[in-house]
Amino acid sequence: MALVPTLTQYLIEQLSKHPNQRDLVLIMSDLAAIGKYISRETNRAGIAGVRGAADAINVQGEEVQKLDVFSNELCKDYLCRTGHFCAMASEEEDTVVDMRGFGEDAHYVVAFDPLDGSSNIDANVSIGTIFSVHRKRGDVAPASAEQFFQNGLSQVLAGYVLYGSSTVLVFSFGDGVHEFTLDQGLGEFLLSNERIMIPNTCSYYSTNEGNTSYISEKDRRFIEYLKMEQKISARYIGSLVADFHRNLVKGGIFLYPGVDKSDTGDYKGKLRLNYEAKPLAFLAQQAGGRATDGMQDILDIMPSSLHQRTPLIIGNKDIVDEYILANKS
Ligand code: AHG
Ligand code: MN
Ligand code: MN
Repeated sequence: MALVPTLTQYLIEQLSKHPNQRDLVLIMSDLAAIGKYISRETNRAGIAGVRGAADAINVQGEEVQKLDVFSNELCKDYLCRTGHFCAMASEEEDTVVDMRGFGEDAHYVVAFDPLDGSSNIDANVSIGTIFSVHRKRGDVAPASAEQFFQNGLSQVLAGYVLYGSSTVLVFSFGDGVHEFTLDQGLGEFLLSNERIMIPNTCSYYSTNEGNTSYISEKDRRFIEYLKMEQKISARYIGSLVADFHRNLVKGGIFLYPGVDKSDTGDYKGKLRLNYEAKPLAFLAQQAGGRATDGMQDILDIMPSSLHQRTPLIIGNKDIVDEYILANKS
């Protein structure tokens, strides 16, 4: 039987090649441990009584689920102890979490969507955890929101853990995108896909068709073009991380354009820049794809607020390029 490398072996090898990446390798290992905890909890959510709403509304105005709370607390408590981070941003935290209790001279900041796709939890549909790591800015206070006003290109590590039919960890240090699958028996992530590239053919488009009446005429036309002229199949899970992963390995485009539900002509993005769009855009680019808000590359956008939202069109480069062109015309 051919043995595949475990994440630990892979990271140690990485370290021997790039000794200056010591911190990032340790951080990746901590994030993987968090992924294992959340994976275990999501798998037994039904029997452990952690399904359902937590009777709270988050800063986004959305109902918080018990697993959102569990995942957020875990990210905070676990990473606090590592001493690598001075600040954490999370979908479930109104403001920046000061992480310096265990690491006065921490060099990094981390942004999380602790549980993405939480409306799918009770239906046993794939969900995930998304993370984005930047170096600490030296020119602003260590635990300030401004730490997260960094564009996507300056991420040093980004990725996600997807709790699907199996649990996979996908990440990039900026040198290719790698996937590890959790062997539940061993409790170890095993290398399952190295240097993933998005297939050239765009096999799927993923969008919430229920928003058709809320999106712009240009966006409607482009989605019609995908269906009627490109004859691409539709797949939409409603968990960004799962939709993204499928498109990453099968080829596809995910579209969550601006929506205008108040009929004022003001089309607003839903997805969050710091912990949804930016990290996935980093992975897309590393895998030969592209991400845009329609006007600029997601990786070029400089956030100006912690929970900033953005339209997100992400996936196969050629088809995202077409979207950008169509949006200009
Ligand atoms: P979250 O569960 O972290 O709040 O994210 C939900 C997001 C994203 O996962 C998904 O792509 C999108 O919301 C789905 O939105 P719609 O239900 O409007 O399609
Ligand atoms: Mn999310
Ligand atoms: Mn979430």
